[in-house]
Amino acid sequence: MQAANTSKIAIIGLGTIGQVVAKNLVNNNRAVIIADRNLDKAIGFATQLGSLATPSSIGEAIREAEVIVMAVWFSAIKELFYQYETLLQGKIIIDPSNPIAPNQKGGFDKIIGTDESAGQINASLLPKGAKLAKALGTLGAASLAHAANQQPASVLFYATDEASINEAVENLIEANGFVPVRVGGLDQSIRIEVLGDLHEFGALGKTVTVAEAEGKI
Ligand SMILES: NC(=O)c1ccc[n+]([C@@H]2O[C@H](COP(=O)([O-])OP(=O)(O)OC[C@H]3O[C@@H](n4cnc5c(N)ncnc54)[C@H](OP(=O)(O)O)[C@@H]3O)[C@@H](O)[C@H]2O)c1
Repeated sequence: MQAANTSKIAIIGLGTIGQVVAKNLVNNNRAVIIADRNLDKAIGFATQLGSLATPSSIGEAIREAEVIVMAVWFSAIKELFYQYETLLQGKIIIDPSNPIAPNQKGGFDKIIGTDESAGQINASLLPKGAKLAKALGTLGAASLAHAANQQPASVLFYATDEASINEAVENLIEANGFVPVRVGGLDQSIRIEVLGDLHEFGALGKTVTVAEAEGKI
């Protein structure tokens, strides 16, 4: 595997979060493979981003990259694990998902048990040898865009059971314009998912600096 600061990153899904992460990376001069189930969407968005962005099919993106950002809804991640099981083996998988779905009142409801986390559920479904980090999901899309590369820098929390991928995850977060702070293993995922005590749309309520984060973890 290459050094973390040169690992190839692919983003799967060019919805709101996928586009923000891709822009953050390109703004920080980092190459990125961008994939969507609609290849034309990936080609069009790559044209907007410029030469650092390479459009791709989902399968080719997973084959080519070492770090795969699953920028799709929680329910779609397991579909992608199943569909691309062989290609995902041994990859570093970044899961920004929040286990919520729109309700009939115009809001969102958690769609798994109160004490469950998307991180732990997705970890139980991982393709062979793949390593999972819960990351890039602790802020809403607006903050993920506007708080990037600011001073003082804002934190993005992450969780993983695999110390061997800390460096790659931290490099990805830094290349997004944030400071990485590991909260622990995937059993801590619930804290950094929506409604959690370390999520912008939970008890945290806002972006935080490293000094502010230190008092909370
Ligand atoms: N938006 C936020 O503020 C925010 C913040 C933190 C974390 N997150 C998390 O980030 C993830 C993405 O959220 P989002 O707001 O970016 O959602 P979004 O705008 O609805 O985009 C979702 C993307 O997933 C793609 N997709 C859905 N099912 C798929 C499948 N089976 N195979 C391949 N692609 C599929 C969609 O493709 P189509 O366009 O073809 O349907 C779309 O590109 C979610 O898990 C969410 O909880 C979001």
